[in-house]
Amino acid sequence: MYNIDMDKKVCIITGANSGIGFEAAVQIADEGFHVVLACRSRERGEAALKRILDESPQRSVELMIVDMSLMSSVRKFADSVTREHGVIDVLIHNAADFDISRKKPVYTEEGIESIWATNHIGPVLLTELLLNSLKRSEEGRIITVASKGLIMKPFMKVDLYDPEFRRRRFSVSNAYYQSKKAQIIYTYHLRRRLENSPVTCNCIRVTNVKIDISRYPDVSSLMKKMYALKSKKSITASAMAGTYTYAAVSSRMRGKSGLYIDENNNPVSSGRYTCDEGVQNDVMALTFSYIPEIGNMI
Ligand SMILES: NC(=O)c1ccc[n+]([C@@H]2O[C@H](COP(=O)([O-])OP(=O)(O)OC[C@H]3O[C@@H](n4cnc5c(N)ncnc54)[C@H](OP(=O)(O)O)[C@@H]3O)[C@@H](O)[C@H]2O)c1
Repeated sequence: MYNIDMDKKVCIITGANSGIGFEAAVQIADEGFHVVLACRSRERGEAALKRILDESPQRSVELMIVDMSLMSSVRKFADSVTREHGVIDVLIHNAADFDISRKKPVYTEEGIESIWATNHIGPVLLTELLLNSLKRSEEGRIITVASKGLIMKPFMKVDLYDPEFRRRRFSVSNAYYQSKKAQIIYTYHLRRRLENSPVTCNCIRVTNVKIDISRYPDVSSLMKKMYALKSKKSITASAMAGTYTYAAVSSRMRGKSGLYIDENNNPVSSGRYTCDEGVQNDVMALTFSYIPEIGNMI
């Protein structure tokens, strides 16, 4: 069922079975890349793979399974993907946990709050485990994903003492935006660390994008109405994926690192807090405390 062309550049996209990730997989495959759809559900991943290949059988795509909320799964995935592909050219951290109906924190079987694990700790671990394979590329590109909604949270900080809402009141939006701020911070931290390597790292500021609300059956009817209204001002997943594709393949992005890029492919500011080196050091010290095998190497 898979179509793998080993001569092509390799792009991994997490959460590529729906929304922006799916559209980016299509566009980047059409740019001549081999795309690894890194999905947590085999069923949904296979359905996406089938849609991509039914439309155009010559596309080079494959499905690999990873649950970004579980570090054991991330390690297993990193192991399989590096065994199969010695060189990785692009890594896109698109998958995210943002179940807007969640009222209480959910802790994974490994004991980490799910949004923090899926949207931040998992992507950091995966990047670090794939770094050597990205360095083997002529121009490895790491792409993280944040949100324009952060504009509404200018004073929000990563809570260094309680990032998992064990002692403070849970709010799904605070948990989500905290994880996205941490991803921006990781992008800047990596830019500094990778200064003398061919690998670049940039973050995409995703704007309001139409979502398939049927993916969230527990959302209240009021929330559904609000989403319908919001959708009128949203762009399509395919339009937003255009920026993923630009960051992944465009020659204009060659050598550019540490940028926060909007839906028009323009660099924008992420605010003073995320750019503060002291903050970056503190947030990364916290992050690496979850994955000491990486933290001890840096
Ligand atoms: N839509 C917007 O308005 C908006 C705004 C700002 C930022 N963003 C960001 O844009 C990115 C894509 O969002 P989207 O709108 O395309 O949403 P989406 O269609 O819901 O896509 C999210 C993807 O992430 C996957 N995922 C969730 N948890 C996972 C896990 N533990 N392991 C692996 N994959 C997991 C989902 O897989 P399943 O199908 O298995 O659930 C799905 O494929 C996200 O990073 C999001 O935060 C979106």
